[in-house]
Amino acid sequence: MKKGELVVAEVRGLTPQGEGLALAEGRTLIVPRAVPGDRVEARVAGKQKGRLLAFPERFIATGAVRQQPPCRHFGRCGGCRWQDLPYPEQLRFKEGLVQGALADRGVSAADWLPILASPSPLFYRNKMEFSFAAGPDGALILGLHLRGSFDRVFDVEECHLQSALSNQVVAAVRRHAVGLGIPAYDLKTHQGQLRFLVIRQAVGTGEILVELVVAKYPSPEVDALAAGVLAELPQITTLVLTLHAGKAQVAAGQAQWVVKGRGGIEEVCGGLRFAISPRSFFQTNPRQAENLYAEASWMGGELDGLEVLDLYCGTGSLSLHLARQARVVWGVEVVVEAVEDARGNARRNGLNNCEFLAGPAEEVLPALWREGRRFDRIFVDPPRAGLHPKVLKALGDLRAPQVVYISCNPLTLAADLAGLQEAGYWVRAVRPVDMFPQTPHCEAIASLVLGDV
Ligand SMILES: C[S@@+](CC[C@H](N)C(=O)[O-])C[C@H]1O[C@@H](n2cnc3c(N)ncnc32)[C@H](O)[C@@H]1O
Repeated sequence: MKKGELVVAEVRGLTPQGEGLALAEGRTLIVPRAVPGDRVEARVAGKQKGRLLAFPERFIATGAVRQQPPCRHFGRCGGCRWQDLPYPEQLRFKEGLVQGALADRGVSAADWLPILASPSPLFYRNKMEFSFAAGPDGALILGLHLRGSFDRVFDVEECHLQSALSNQVVAAVRRHAVGLGIPAYDLKTHQGQLRFLVIRQAVGTGEILVELVVAKYPSPEVDALAAGVLAELPQITTLVLTLHAGKAQVAAGQAQWVVKGRGGIEEVCGGLRFAISPRSFFQTNPRQAENLYAEASWMGGELDGLEVLDLYCGTGSLSLHLARQARVVWGVEVVVEAVEDARGNARRNGLNNCEFLAGPAEEVLPALWREGRRFDRIFVDPPRAGLHPKVLKALGDLRAPQVVYISCNPLTLAADLAGLQEAGYWVRAVRPVDMFPQTPHCEAIASLVLGDV
């Protein structure tokens, strides 16, 4: 099979990234935009991670209903890969991805609970990060990454994941930056000024935080940009300038200036109030986060009078939900600012039965075990990379009667559940939760019990 050749492929499965996995002439192909059941005529484009990549040119038969994608950027944008699938079909494939990942690791659950759909499949995000770049003609671009590209960006006119106000902010920032002639930061030459625009909006309070990440500050042109945008959109509650002079292309920085407001916003989730600062983690689908926390608490069972640990606690959003029932909740988090936010959030909500510890879970957890501390329930919600081997080992040593694992990556969830099974746990139930509609990403909650089934 050669590059440029047209082949007929039967799509049988999905890669963990949500691309079609097909068979053709005895070879395995990755077929973007295809799903199981599709039969496509696809053009071989090259190799990707040892497998052939082929783009569909004609669907001969389809394994799922397709729809007109609501967004005009669909296909070019790296964000929403599944907008052409009706939402019930997206949910069906996500359940399959979670179940498949666990089955590949030999993990079986006593109960498979159906996927929890997001309350809104569109306009659900409270945080979006946009990149500045120079177009081929040198004109300033502000938008999202092109599909499959880490360095090419296109102008976003309207994004269907964020609110109308957030779309207005993007348009206003672009227009003022172009008017002022401020150049984008160039990744190759390391010249230029504008790097990222981050917008966070609290659905519970309507507050909106705008963060501009720039390469040089103080700068009169950046001041003029901030002033122009604030004059046009007085609804912006807080505007922050972040200086990031380093070469790594990440929306982070060395110093921050608050131009308007208090530098953070407040969100209401599950009846609790949370402060969100520019750098701290908060679930990006806040209405569905309420369901995620309610479901995780339920899967942990009765917490009355119990000592609970919330590992990877962020700003304490799950910890505070649990603290309304438990006797005491310990939270562990590596980002110091998030721990400060978590302590403030506990005070803000009048919950004085929480203790937050700053540090990497892989160091704090073994130390807690050595000190002789024990927990009735342990909740873990690690980043995509999953649990550090030292955390897995310490969980085995601590022998909490129940563990609840919240995961945003079915592959690492499966590997860690296999590790916990070896440590003596069995998987009582798994519930996929859709936090990221229109994308193949899927969250899942697993509840584990120590001892025999
Ligand atoms: C998926 S978030 C979950 C946060 C929280 N449970 C929530 O729902 O908002 C993962 C969190 O783990 C933190 N984190 C990442 N690596 C860590 C580590 N090695 N030790 C402790 N926390 C870590 C991140 O900063 C982030 O706040």
